[in-house]
Amino acid sequence: MRSSLVLLTALVALAAYYIYIPLPSSVSDPWKLMLLDATFRGAQQLSNLIHYLGLSHHLIALNFIIISFGKKNALSSAQVKVRDTAFDGVEVRVFEGSPKPDEPLRRSIVYIHGGGWALASAKIKYYDELCMAMAEDLNAVIVSIEYRLVPQVYFPEQIHDVVRATKYFLQPEVLQQYHVDPGRIGISGDSAGGNLAAVLAQQFSQDASVRNKLKLQALIYPVLQALDFNTPSYQQNVNTPILPRYVMAKYWVDYFKGDYDFVQAMVVNNHTALDVSEAAAFRAYLNWTSLLPASITKNYKPVVQTMGNARIIKELPQLLDARSSPLIADQEVLQHLPKTYILTCEHDVLRDDGIMYAKRLVNAGVDVTLDHFEDGFHGCMIFTSWPTNFSVGVRTRYSYIKWLDQNL
Ligand SMILES: *[C@@H]1O[C@H](CO)[C@@H](O)[C@H](O)[C@H]1NC(C)=O
Ligand SMILES: *[C@@H]1O[C@H](CO)[C@@H](O)[C@H](O)[C@H]1NC(C)=O
Ligand SMILES: *[C@@H]1O[C@H](CO)[C@@H](O)[C@H](O)[C@H]1NC(C)=O
Repeated sequence: MRSSLVLLTALVALAAYYIYIPLPSSVSDPWKLMLLDATFRGAQQLSNLIHYLGLSHHLIALNFIIISFGKKNALSSAQVKVRDTAFDGVEVRVFEGSPKPDEPLRRSIVYIHGGGWALASAKIKYYDELCMAMAEDLNAVIVSIEYRLVPQVYFPEQIHDVVRATKYFLQPEVLQQYHVDPGRIGISGDSAGGNLAAVLAQQFSQDASVRNKLKLQALIYPVLQALDFNTPSYQQNVNTPILPRYVMAKYWVDYFKGDYDFVQAMVVNNHTALDVSEAAAFRAYLNWTSLLPASITKNYKPVVQTMGNARIIKELPQLLDARSSPLIADQEVLQHLPKTYILTCEHDVLRDDGIMYAKRLVNAGVDVTLDHFEDGFHGCMIFTSWPTNFSVGVRTRYSYIKWLDQNL
């Protein structure tokens, strides 16, 4: 009896130790976030073990666990017709909201889910529910792209998939078949999906065949640059749940099929040190003192190494490619972008990626809405239903859909 009590106490202490992480009290529902983070960390560690044992690639194992938490079949409701199909060989899930009585043609959003270019699916419960809500609330057609992921494919294949599916959809005869208004189509995505959406919008603004076909872009806590892992938000949120800095740097390395040995050097900005000549051209974008307001930079100092590691950019030149880091695109590219919404969260390493992009777009003359959530954390917008319901999840989703409703 006594020994089992000791054992139980030890187990509870161990579980508490595993689950507990210090969080600022200003984050939404901190205890729930700790549990969510512990679950995700547990799944990551299990996947790493599976990788170590040689059973499977850790990202395949992790995605298997994520998908087993809630893959959903294409299930229509009274208001929304849901169907899985393919657009030019790329799988998509299409959600068709009912048209408004006075408007025969519907609005439309092409949606790109997040997950570090390696995880999740348009078919998991979280993204299925988000797109259902968008289709219903906006009386719109939502095309959620099931692009291929790392390690099946690497950069720039993910981009090719989303571009191919979107171009197919934008054809007049396809839009007509879906009763979509060609003048009211937007592109959107969250996290790595926000990265792909931003890249696609830039490509389309340069491509005469599709130019001006997107009415807006809506980027939810997007990943926008791989040059600086020491922006104020990276420094502030080094260990913040869901997306610690080290994990984000690893997603980048995975996207480029790079060597994990680079991650430690990247998080101290050794890849963009002053002695790395390839990075010199982008130095101005790294100078966030001119791109971020004083309320954000506070007392944080830029981290610029004098001596770094030139091998990283030699082996992974993709790190300095605007197709992976849309933040570093030329002004001439940015000025043709459509109306833009960017949602950022305070407790997120990517906060400043979004704020800097908003600033560059405003400088380029683009109409931008920056929607910041003081109690938000990375990924929160997909967490709206029990047991992973967060107050800030509900509020971010409401605010995002409201902006779309008013601007699309
Ligand atoms: C960064 O580069 C410097 C100079 O090459 C090196 O001394 C240092 O160990 C590197 N840091 C990391 C974390 O790799
Ligand atoms: C960064 O920008 C600030 C403000 O615009 C400027 O004073 C400073 O010289 C810049 N630093 C570098 C290294 O470009
Ligand atoms: C989550 O949902 C449950 C059950 O509907 C509700 O009681 C609870 O207040 C919700 N929590 C938050 C943070 O929204």
